[in-house]
Amino acid sequence: MRLQGKTAIITGAARGIGRAFAEAYIREGATVAIADINETAVRETAAQIGAHPVVMDVTRQDSIDAGIAQAVELMGGIDILINNAALFDLAPITEITRQSYDTLFAINVSGTLFVMQAVARHMIDTGRRGKIINMASQAGRRGEALVGVYCATKAAVISLTQSAGLNLIGHGINVNAIAPGVVDGEHWDGVDAKFAAYENKPRGQKKAEVGASVPFGRMGTAEDLTGMAIFLASPEADYIVAQTYNVDGGNWMS
Ligand SMILES: NC(=O)c1ccc[n+]([C@@H]2O[C@H](COP(=O)([O-])OP(=O)(O)OC[C@H]3O[C@@H](n4cnc5c(N)ncnc54)[C@H](O)[C@@H]3O)[C@@H](O)[C@H]2O)c1
Repeated sequence: MRLQGKTAIITGAARGIGRAFAEAYIREGATVAIADINETAVRETAAQIGAHPVVMDVTRQDSIDAGIAQAVELMGGIDILINNAALFDLAPITEITRQSYDTLFAINVSGTLFVMQAVARHMIDTGRRGKIINMASQAGRRGEALVGVYCATKAAVISLTQSAGLNLIGHGINVNAIAPGVVDGEHWDGVDAKFAAYENKPRGQKKAEVGASVPFGRMGTAEDLTGMAIFLASPEADYIVAQTYNVDGGNWMS
């Protein structure tokens, strides 16, 4: 029960990694609000796992403000934020559209920054020490031929984590990030389908290839990431500032 008495909001948590984080935090004693643009899914997931549902579009400032206010009212304040909502897309440089670029940057980068800003203001106003965890990716540590925009958004998340970490530690707020490798789930089913189209592969083949190339021997699961998410939200991580941790079965190192 390392998060007993703490309150957390996790964006993009109607499914996937965010949902696993919410379940893990609840197991550790936290009260959790899950925020997601998918209203039906966020209500269903919240009911299943015992979290508070918050309908939030991280690309809209009015929606962020209303969602954070709602979470504060429901839980009495916010001690922990996980900025987890994100979207993936894939295209060769010559085929990237402005719409894809604008959408990915709006969710993955602006969403991360302005949710972080809203929660940091709340933490400072209420005089609480807080923990903010941003979801980066191995994609943010290097380019990939077909993944230019997503890689750039995750590089921006790592950079924002560094700046926000340095800026907010003076207020007692730790900002750090997690960089997963390849994590199985609905997200990667979508990634696999996009690679299948561009690389002319049967569905499932890309997923099998990336899993086999992970030094650990398989793709990650959402549960593989929960230990780091709990640790970074706990008092044991008080002296950790502006870092991005790989949790990837050795994928980045290889
Ligand atoms: N799955 C992987 O292999 C992998 C690898 C590295 C990093 N990550 C990162 O981990 C995080 C979670 O990934 P996942 O695999 O669980 O993704 P996912 O696609 O399964 O879940 C993303 C969630 O975000 C929500 N969302 C989308 N747009 C939103 C918006 N505008 N406002 C609020 N919510 C919105 C979706 O409804 C969905 O529930 C993401 O930041 C992702 O980039 C994932």
